[in-house]
Amino acid sequence: MRLAVPAESSPHETRVSLPPDGVAAFVKDGWDVAVQAGAGVRAGFGDDLYQKAGAALAPDVAATFQQAEVVCMIGPPSPEYVSRMSPGTLLFSLLDPFTTPNLVSQLASGGITAFALEAIPRTTLAQSMDVLSSQATAGGYAAVLLAASESPRFFPMFVTAAGTIPPSKLLVLGVGVAGLQAIATGRRLGAQVSAYDIRPETREQVESLGARFVAAPTEQGDDSGYAKEVSVDTQQQQHAALAPHVAAADVVITTAQIPGRPAPLLVTTAMVEAMKPGSIVVDMAAGTGGNVEPSRPDETVLVNGVRVLGPTNLAASVAADASRMFGRNLINLIKHMKSDDGTITVDLGDEITGGCCITKDGSVVHPRLRPGATEETRNE
Ligand code: NAI
Repeated sequence: MRLAVPAESSPHETRVSLPPDGVAAFVKDGWDVAVQAGAGVRAGFGDDLYQKAGAALAPDVAATFQQAEVVCMIGPPSPEYVSRMSPGTLLFSLLDPFTTPNLVSQLASGGITAFALEAIPRTTLAQSMDVLSSQATAGGYAAVLLAASESPRFFPMFVTAAGTIPPSKLLVLGVGVAGLQAIATGRRLGAQVSAYDIRPETREQVESLGARFVAAPTEQGDDSGYAKEVSVDTQQQQHAALAPHVAAADVVITTAQIPGRPAPLLVTTAMVEAMKPGSIVVDMAAGTGGNVEPSRPDETVLVNGVRVLGPTNLAASVAADASRMFGRNLINLIKHMKSDDGTITVDLGDEITGGCCITKDGSVVHPRLRPGATEETRNE
């Protein structure tokens, strides 16, 4: 098989889909791997490392995709990238398929068999392939470091000859994968951490990390373990319960998401205005509507001396290790699809393969995207 690793089409992406040791694993299995020159440089992987791993360097995207049967990307690919892939190519990438109908139809009409990595089922078997989890881990960690570097305060308590400085108060809202990592990282830096999530089972997880669970309304999620959208009444109760905790915090990090819906509003402008000047808010959901009313994607908004940050690709700020995790997820997914003869079998009846395959043989095959899928099915 011939596998291609291009430089990412987004100029803001610093990660690479496969690091050199990932390339070496495919080469060991007898695959030919082409890597676009410079693809890994911003993640700290120079061309020499890819050559040592057994890859052939290609000067541009067209040369990288030549004769490629498998393309691995962080993604999503630009229309120009898709137009350069041959029919029958297997594409593994983040595709945001449920909100990008133009990309999905271009992939289908180009005869690409596309796997949207964000659609991999969140099951125990697929955990090692789950890029949402690995990249949320990187993002949760990076959010705390960003907040610590922006904050005018120390995170840990300092007892010095110049006096005792109390620890920073960090409040984490939304305790999924990113939130748990933010709590753990904040604790390692010595902050006094409290956290809240709508799902009641997160209380135990928060407490097991040594943080305090904030008392506010909780509700069971759906069968797959995700949170559901809350009523206006519950949202108002959340705001009332969270307001004093937000006001007391030096740093607030929000990570709450509801799959297929805009992110829930957890912190209003009035709540930010009640914080101390110099406080920092990092809204990790800014790209999907925002948990914090005044946040804007990839901007810093100043509200009464409080800086509200809305970074949309925090994993890219720890590109080397985020790429290592992404590459490991990809290897595990491709291994799952490999037949004994070393080729890839696309079995749509398989829960993982069928769960993330979006287009195949010129058609859109994912149940949530097929013609006739209802709005409700699309948002499941
Ligand atoms: P996510 O990114 O969809 O959301 C982050 C957090 O926001 C969630 O914990 C959610 O409960 C919370 N949230 C949503 N609405 C909220 C609101 N109105 N107020 C407060 N908090 C709100 O979640 P993520 O990180 O993708 O994980 C979701 C679930 O999936 C978790 O139960 C996690 O344990 C599970 N999971 C399972 C995996 C597996 O078995 N392979 C892998 C990863 C996650």
